[in-house]
Amino acid sequence: MPSEEMDILGLRSEQARRIAREREMHRRFKSGELRGVVVSSSDADADRGVLLAAAHLFQRQLSKMPKEYVLRQVFDTKHATMALVGPAAEVVGGVCYRPFFERGFVEIVFLAVDYDFQVLGVGGFMMDLFKEVAKGEMRGKEWEAADSVLGIYRHKCVAIDDLDALHVSVAAEMPGPLYLVTYADNFAIGYFKKQGFSTDIRFGGWEGVIKDYEGGTIVECKVLWEIDYLRKQEAIEEMRREVLQRMRAAGSIHVLYKIDDYSGIKGAADIPGVPGEAGTGREVAGDAGLLDRFISYLISDLQSNAHAWPFLKPIDPEEVPDYYRVIANPMDLSTMLSKLESNKYKGLEPFVRDVRLMASNCMEYNGKDTQYYKCAQMLLDHFHGRLESYRHVASRLWAEGPG
Ligand code: COA
Repeated sequence: MPSEEMDILGLRSEQARRIAREREMHRRFKSGELRGVVVSSSDADADRGVLLAAAHLFQRQLSKMPKEYVLRQVFDTKHATMALVGPAAEVVGGVCYRPFFERGFVEIVFLAVDYDFQVLGVGGFMMDLFKEVAKGEMRGKEWEAADSVLGIYRHKCVAIDDLDALHVSVAAEMPGPLYLVTYADNFAIGYFKKQGFSTDIRFGGWEGVIKDYEGGTIVECKVLWEIDYLRKQEAIEEMRREVLQRMRAAGSIHVLYKIDDYSGIKGAADIPGVPGEAGTGREVAGDAGLLDRFISYLISDLQSNAHAWPFLKPIDPEEVPDYYRVIANPMDLSTMLSKLESNKYKGLEPFVRDVRLMASNCMEYNGKDTQYYKCAQMLLDHFHGRLESYRHVASRLWAEGPG
């Protein structure tokens, strides 16, 4: 079996899925099923119908925001909206934003995908498209300083139909660093993280100039000029291939050993092709390595799950004052990661116990119809599903771990 086809913990198929999704979005743009448009009410000829449809979309999807406020922001002349328009001229997704040219960043004011189009890759692609649009903004192609003394910008409406024409990779075209900044709804932090945003704030240029939203977390993303975000997945795939090629040239990972008789295999070192001598105790060391890798994989899999947001960090006692009076043994994903890093997990079982403890704490503290309770339930189901898929690994680590 060529190593190309090896699927280590499902990563290969994940990547294949993302490439297929990216291609599908390109196809939709090429066929005209989907088109992009950037509109701002600072342009007298702006298509107000698109702006209104985008405002309605934000109002529907961001129901905590007052409706009038959303409308005002979308029609604010300092703002522009990049909208994805579907086959029936409906706005499928949109990003309302404000560029701060002098400070080198763009604030995402609102971002949403229509409910019917979510979970299909539209949100991810929309962000990639937006990164290229933001670069264009910073190069000053779309805005003209009509009145640079007053700092009023007029936005020329732009139609995005040719994705190939968007990315400009000429070094001379790259002004200073470019950041995207937004207050992310806690539900959407996982989405933003997947799009390269971080809560670890390095760029402070936004401080004091953007609005503070209650219940949101500020996230930032550095946009890299040299990357064509619209072909990100293909670029990742190319790099993966290159790495595999080099590994193949340097070693023997591509050699497949066929095993007819499994009865002689007692430990890792008995597997043909695995270096080390059988019976030297190496299999114990191998399992310890496997245990750490497996737990590390399970933790990052949980962290990137859409329902993990309540469990990423310990509960803040200032936000939930009575939590530690009710819950005697708190647990969360960052604590599990620290335990793993400090070698506290000697077997799989204690780790599984911690995941279940984390979920049961949440279910004990929160009512059945709360989002927290449902998140705990969904995350636990997902986790059990993962254990089931990797039963061959899990059962071995379970049996052999000291517990
Ligand atoms: N938490 C964690 N991960 C999420 C997520 C969430 N809430 N929503 C999407 N993702 C992940 C997906 O699993 C996918 O990961 P993958 O690349 O590994 O497959 C990736 O992000 C892209 O998902 P995609 O299907 O393209 O996203 P989407 O079209 O469903 O759009 C939102 C995502 C957040 C834009 C959409 O859910 C939405 O409009 N929500 C309501 C409005 C909102 O919260 N806006 C943000 C704050 S202003």
